[in-house]
Amino acid sequence: MSEITIQLEGVNKFYGENHIVKDLHLDVFKGEFLTLLGPSGCGKTTTLRMIAGFEQPSSGKILLAGEDVAALPPNKRDVNTVFQNYALFPHMTVRENIGYGLRMKKTPRDEIARRVQDALRMVQMEAYADRKPRQMSGGQQQRVAVARAIVNNPTVLLLDEPLGALDLKLRKQMQFELKHLQQKLGITFLYVTHDQEEALTMSDRVAVIHNGRLEQIDTPAAIYNRPKTRFVADFIGETNLFKGKVVGTSAHEVSVAIEGAIFRFAHAEGQHSGAEVYVSVRPEAMSMTRERPEGEAGLVGRVTEHVFVGSVYKTIVTLPTGLEVVVVQPAASDGLIQQGEEVYLTWDSARSVVLAS
Ligand SMILES: Nc1ncnc2c1ncn2[C@@H]1O[C@H](COP(=O)(O)OP(=O)(O)O)[C@@H](O)[C@H]1O
Ligand SMILES: [Mg+2]
Repeated sequence: MSEITIQLEGVNKFYGENHIVKDLHLDVFKGEFLTLLGPSGCGKTTTLRMIAGFEQPSSGKILLAGEDVAALPPNKRDVNTVFQNYALFPHMTVRENIGYGLRMKKTPRDEIARRVQDALRMVQMEAYADRKPRQMSGGQQQRVAVARAIVNNPTVLLLDEPLGALDLKLRKQMQFELKHLQQKLGITFLYVTHDQEEALTMSDRVAVIHNGRLEQIDTPAAIYNRPKTRFVADFIGETNLFKGKVVGTSAHEVSVAIEGAIFRFAHAEGQHSGAEVYVSVRPEAMSMTRERPEGEAGLVGRVTEHVFVGSVYKTIVTLPTGLEVVVVQPAASDGLIQQGEEVYLTWDSARSVVLAS
């Protein structure tokens, strides 16, 4: 995967005074499933609309398959878009909806029939070909919307929160189906969601956007385990953020004072003595003991909540400063810790990240 299908070079978008997309550089590789992830209003839809050609960038360049597309209208760009609200024609059957674009392009009738049938099979909707949109569930309508996009054999599919209107169970199922379809067809997917779990499950790479700016682009595992900014650490999954101050550095580690104790960390890029930092520790990288841990700094706190959540125990330990720390441990390691008990908290420094504040 080295051929670049979509390239954004320093793209900016202003609506009046508002700077919506900020100096965005992005390379999407051929056949890749790349997700733009960020909270509502961060500029994801605007970015997709610029790639599709419905909006022009205020500055910067967009290239599709190496070609600057500034002068190309949406219908001349080799991309298809799937929106959250399906946008199916209510008066047309499923078959007519899927074939609509091909009919507009004056594709021969027998070819339309064949390609529509292929697309129906891809999304497993052959049995629904003669129904109208209102005679189907939301999930079925969304499958038709996907079929309508892939019937054009696009090299790129842009998907803007396509599963946003579905309930949780159906969403999970459709995530799996879409991912499977993308792998089977080898189409480049540029997917948009505000749901971090959805992004991590489906994507080859995730681009985290915050206030119009790209914070980090990486594999799901790297985004989760090695967040580069406080925003990414906080937005992806659940994490404990400890405010601290760097009190010493060596070639391989930094020492950070947190809540009065000194901790050492390996992963801290460019931190200097005196810097105010945040340390991000995932709940499952935290440990909790009754006895003071030998030779290790630990934070003392009181268990204020201890609940069994299926396969794990989730414990809230409140520190004297009022900070609530989340600890997740396998159910088997319970060790009979009770609410109200005093415990020592330590963590796996190899799985912790020191971030600029
Ligand atoms: N046509 C427009 N005119 C003015 N402001 C807009 C327009 N479209 C979007 N915006 C604003 O741009 C920001 C980003 O919107 P959008 O790209 O839709 O975010 P997202 O898809 O990440 O939720 C929002 O503050 C939104 O109000
Ligand atoms: Mg949007």
